[in-house]
Amino acid sequence: MNSFRLQHARLEVWRDPAELCERAAELFIGIAREAEGTGADFTVALSGGSTPKSLYALLATEAKAARVPWEQAQIFWSDERCVPPDDEQSNYRMAYQALLAHVPVLPERIHRMHGEDLPAHAAEAYAAELEKQFGAEGDPRFSLILLGMGEDGHTASLFPHAPALEEREKTVVAAEVEKLRAHRLTFTLRTINAAAQVIFLVSGAAKAATLKAVLEDDSTAPGALPAQLVRPEGGELIWLVDEDAAQLLKG
Ligand code: 6PG
Repeated sequence: MNSFRLQHARLEVWRDPAELCERAAELFIGIAREAEGTGADFTVALSGGSTPKSLYALLATEAKAARVPWEQAQIFWSDERCVPPDDEQSNYRMAYQALLAHVPVLPERIHRMHGEDLPAHAAEAYAAELEKQFGAEGDPRFSLILLGMGEDGHTASLFPHAPALEEREKTVVAAEVEKLRAHRLTFTLRTINAAAQVIFLVSGAAKAATLKAVLEDDSTAPGALPAQLVRPEGGELIWLVDEDAAQLLKG
């Protein structure tokens, strides 16, 4: 593994997706156990995507799951597709099947976005859910937000040049994604950047050019690469990437 200190983040390059997921699982467990020490809730926001899915499957294994204080976990999502929870597209369904069905987390600690409701209402309801957890004053401060990155540089459901990127007040919004002709629910940058820890999981050669632009190109047009706007103010940002995704980065 090679580790690099960037201006706003730490970058770790792992050999392949399996090593990357192993590292992500250990970070997840470490952050959860820190919360255990203080008696506070371990608040985590999951994301959709293929790399996160492999992480969830790993966390569901006996060897990993037994080390997580699930009774202190509060599980949220950073984004959701506007579909019912049993739809194949649902991020909740994916995380439930890969992880949550296999670990002792209480149902009242699983806070899904209601993708089946009217998007604007579902976004408001989820913002209220965050307020219940974190209080109405100040920003929600998650212990951990897990994110993927799309080939176009989107993260959560913040797509290039989307109006949602301009949102400064709301913590959760409904977003129309033109190129997918679909609605999504998503955390705003306000919420993501208030987290104590944000971890990106990026694998595969198809993401290499975008990853290079996000991490090394300061001249991209504002909003062109939403992943570049993730900069937790009082927290830590780690990019976990595999060698295929990292192949164009300068050494
Ligand atoms: C979603 C996401 C999204 C995802 C990236 C990366 O619901 O699609 O949360 O932001 O994490 O698109 O997805 P892959 O790992 O599948 O490329």
